[in-house]
Amino acid sequence: MKADQVIARLDALAAQGAEFEALLDAAVAEVHGMSPRFHWTGIYELFPDNVLRLGPFLGAPTDHVFIGVGNGVCGTAVAEKRDQNIPDVRCIANYLACSSETRSELVVLIRAGDVIFAQIDIDSHEVAAFDEAAVADVQQVANWLSQLYQRRVNAGRAA
Ligand code: SME
Repeated sequence: MKADQVIARLDALAAQGAEFEALLDAAVAEVHGMSPRFHWTGIYELFPDNVLRLGPFLGAPTDHVFIGVGNGVCGTAVAEKRDQNIPDVRCIANYLACSSETRSELVVLIRAGDVIFAQIDIDSHEVAAFDEAAVADVQQVANWLSQLYQRRVNAGRAA
């Protein structure tokens, strides 16, 4: 239900002609507001040099503005082409700490099949903050964003 409402608001913004970046900002704000357990929410975009670059985010500033594919939870998601739901980041050897308070982390890929455009990254100060319903909600927003990225790619090809 929560994701449906978020997507309705994003659709309305898009229908009003909001730019790509404004829609990304809105998506981050909407996802961040989905749960009081989400303490840091951001989008990392995948560039052709296989580096993730931090886009819009809400929460404390992070040193991890660039993350190579394969590094940390974010880079592992891309390398393995799989979302990552980490109940306790203290158990992850290659975890890249954004805040010492972070206990769990969710990375949901923004993808069209095997093509990865970006990812939604969420940190929580609580252990195991991301239950099945929360993951499904974030995935719905990621799917919406994937269509947005796909349209941008198609528009670039047409230009
Ligand atoms: N923890 C992430 C780095 C990004 S910060 O959490 C914002 C990782 O291990 O890739």
